Amino acid sequence: MTTTEHAAGPRRLGTAPDPGTLDAAERMGVDELRALQLERLQATLRHAYANVPHYRRAFDEAGVHPDDCRELADLARFPSTSKADLRENYPFGMFAVPREEVRRVHASSGTTGLPTVVGYTEADLGVWATVMARSIRAAGGRPGDVLHNAYGYGLFTGGLGAHYGAEKLGCTVVPVSGGMTPRQVQLIRDFEPRVIMVTPSYMLTVIDEFEKEGMDPRASSLQIGIFGAEPWTEQMRQEMEERLDIEAIDIYGLSEVMGPGVAQECVETKDGLHIWEDHFYPEVIDPITGEVLPEGEEGELVFTSLTKEAMPVIRYRTRDLTRLLPGTARPGMRRMQKITGRTDDMIILRGVNLFPTQIEEVVLRTPGLSPHFSLLLTTRGRMDHLTVRVEARPDCPPERREPAAAEVRKAVKDTVGTSVDVTVVDPETLPRSVGKLKRLVDERERTGA
Ligand code: DLL
Repeated sequence: MTTTEHAAGPRRLGTAPDPGTLDAAERMGVDELRALQLERLQATLRHAYANVPHYRRAFDEAGVHPDDCRELADLARFPSTSKADLRENYPFGMFAVPREEVRRVHASSGTTGLPTVVGYTEADLGVWATVMARSIRAAGGRPGDVLHNAYGYGLFTGGLGAHYGAEKLGCTVVPVSGGMTPRQVQLIRDFEPRVIMVTPSYMLTVIDEFEKEGMDPRASSLQIGIFGAEPWTEQMRQEMEERLDIEAIDIYGLSEVMGPGVAQECVETKDGLHIWEDHFYPEVIDPITGEVLPEGEEGELVFTSLTKEAMPVIRYRTRDLTRLLPGTARPGMRRMQKITGRTDDMIILRGVNLFPTQIEEVVLRTPGLSPHFSLLLTTRGRMDHLTVRVEARPDCPPERREPAAAEVRKAVKDTVGTSVDVTVVDPETLPRSVGKLKRLVDERERTGA
């Protein structure tokens, strides 16, 4: 293990995989990769146009045809796809193969309307397992490792996606799924996994459970945590690496594009997530105008699948905000910066944009405060108001609470530029997640204006 200076201070780094174990695409240079992408993109556009009525209509309306794509930049002429398009074609209308060829479906929870349904052919499932195996290896996992998989199994892509990738890499998978926290701790103690895959918020719940049971989480067998499915910050990485004595690595994905394993941070650099560009073509656009932004500028991430059979996606708008950066640990593949937030998680408070990750950074820098916090949006008079409720750490003396709250108020005012209320509450009083954590409660009055 080595340590290097980085924006967020000194950090630990892990060991790169043996180059001989990498997939051919991970070793490709940019030119070779671009040629492969163009060929796959052209085939994908043709496949979508020929087999999905939605794409045929959308391309025709935009006056473009798959034959118009002669270079990768031509993709910008094609219309984008949104979650609403998937909902309008619920459940199987976006499939590009006969239903009998679809081996599995997954779906989003559908808390805000109809679920979005995605499908996979046998070949799609093979690609998914390949990119997931690649991701686990990039995070430091190796054949023979015991891997504790606490991502939820079921319609959510996390559990099964990680599962088949880990098996493909050659790990011994413990398919625990989320929940029953004391049992998670018992299985970690008894089966001695080297790798854990789980949402960062549920990892915190499991760490707390270790401590509640009088065990030192640093003494556990875990060496690598592969955390994703929700935003988490560099401060959260430090918190988890220190409390668990592990490498905490970021994994990204979304069901519409595949599931987990679209992009993965490499343990030897921990500098953003390499996008597996042989299967997923990224663009970053201005979320308002839709214009493609140059590399390095922040905007909304958009993906086009390059090999998917059952449900190709053309310029799918993820709503995730990030920027594209050149490759490092895998020089041919671009990186995406750790995600700041989603366009729909952005809180606009008296004209100032604020993301929950900005609050996370401040809370975790403040001595005495735990990483457990929630955000409550209310209306006072005609103004929106944000209250941050954050748990004190168990060892935080009572007289430290008010100064800690004042520090958070000031830091948010200084860095974000808006006033928020901060209340420090007792440990173990805020809701815990077993999967993706919902941090924001919006109780604003809807005036319909
Ligand atoms: O969350 C897939 C996944 C499972 C990724 C396990 C990683 C690990 P969905 O439920 O479709 O799929 O949600 C996708 O989750 O658009 C992001 O907003 C968010 N998200 C996923 N990974 C990250 C990450 C899975 N590493 C949505 N950082 C995405 C920040 C993430 N946000």
